Amino acid sequence: MTKPLHIGIIGAGAIAQFGHIPGFQKLADVHVTALCDTNIERAREVAAKFNIPNVYEDYREVIAHPTIDAVTVGVPNALHATVTQEALATGKHVMCEKPLATTVADGQAMVTAAEQANRILALNMHQRVRGDAQLLRKTISDGALGQVHYMHIRMMRRNGIPGFGSWFTRRELSGGGVLMDIGVHVVDLAMWLLNFPEVVSVRGETRAIHGPRGRGLGGWGVDHVRDGAFEVEDFASLHLRLANGGLITTEVSWAMYGDNENRVQVVGDEGGADIFPELHNQAPMRLFRDEDGIPVDVYPHIPRLAGSDWDRSMASFVEAIRGEGRAPATGAEGLTILKLLDAVYRSSAEGKEIML
Ligand SMILES: NC(=O)c1ccc[n+]([C@@H]2O[C@H](COP(=O)([O-])OP(=O)(O)OC[C@H]3O[C@@H](n4cnc5c(N)ncnc54)[C@H](O)[C@@H]3O)[C@@H](O)[C@H]2O)c1
Repeated sequence: MTKPLHIGIIGAGAIAQFGHIPGFQKLADVHVTALCDTNIERAREVAAKFNIPNVYEDYREVIAHPTIDAVTVGVPNALHATVTQEALATGKHVMCEKPLATTVADGQAMVTAAEQANRILALNMHQRVRGDAQLLRKTISDGALGQVHYMHIRMMRRNGIPGFGSWFTRRELSGGGVLMDIGVHVVDLAMWLLNFPEVVSVRGETRAIHGPRGRGLGGWGVDHVRDGAFEVEDFASLHLRLANGGLITTEVSWAMYGDNENRVQVVGDEGGADIFPELHNQAPMRLFRDEDGIPVDVYPHIPRLAGSDWDRSMASFVEAIRGEGRAPATGAEGLTILKLLDAVYRSSAEGKEIML
């Protein structure tokens, strides 16, 4: 029989309610035992909705709980480092939300803390457990595209600013805007698809176009403020030059005058791949190659995976704790991504390419 696992949820906001708690509660022999939020009314309400027995205001009570094996950290980005390190130090495994931290120094300290505690530090990079992304990664690693020399990923939102004056738009709490929110997913997806190639330089631009004018409000986040500070970027564009000669380019926006778009384009010297659900909604992924000198387009069947991406991410974390698989993304990988995002901000501020 599998040993039951007890999970504590730190932060009772949007990602806890839509991702963490439902994901764990679908798994056999996994119990969500405790929930905490500094907003104790919210914590009580969410605990009642999901039938969670122990409710706290202070995360230290969750990590001190003797029967809890692992915690999720779903609080504003600037708090990830402290909460995660304290949880690891008490012997808990941690599923931390993205981005790993708001500074490279904090991210490094978290990775070191996990090594010292010999506990799993995972990140909820749920883009990796999409069926199309899994298929694309296999296609690339099987060599079907040859040597990949170009990857272009865009995640663009028409109106997606998560509140004006929410923690997302206050730099001290978020560490940045769309780049720290969606950009972290995009850069992680690109790097993971190519099995974490060596990056030699970063060129990036960040802009605040809609936010400072109060435009582009979206619907995410539980503390949705409509008239507060907007101190971060709502658009970012970046180029990563790879040691093998390849190039990764991405754009992300929280808000812009254009269509919503989630596109992944990969070009190799023997073939290409394009995931573009907004354009090809019947067959969102296409593969391009030549057969006997004839250009051929293939529409592969994308695996239909059970549950949501977040469900699969929580399931992988549990498998990793049980020694049956690997974490959806590791703290060390999160640190690599954080270093790249940090270089994007530096590049934008200094107006030059950053050599790594
Ligand atoms: N992986 C994903 O798809 C995904 C999606 C959205 C958000 N996130 C990440 O999840 C984290 C939370 O985002 P969200 O959208 O749920 O935000 P949210 O604002 O909806 O929720 C955050 C919660 O944390 C609580 N909180 C603040 N300080 C706390 C503390 N010291 N102790 C306990 N609780 C505290 C707040 O009261 C709030 O309820 C962020 O790091 C964000 O980047 C990840």
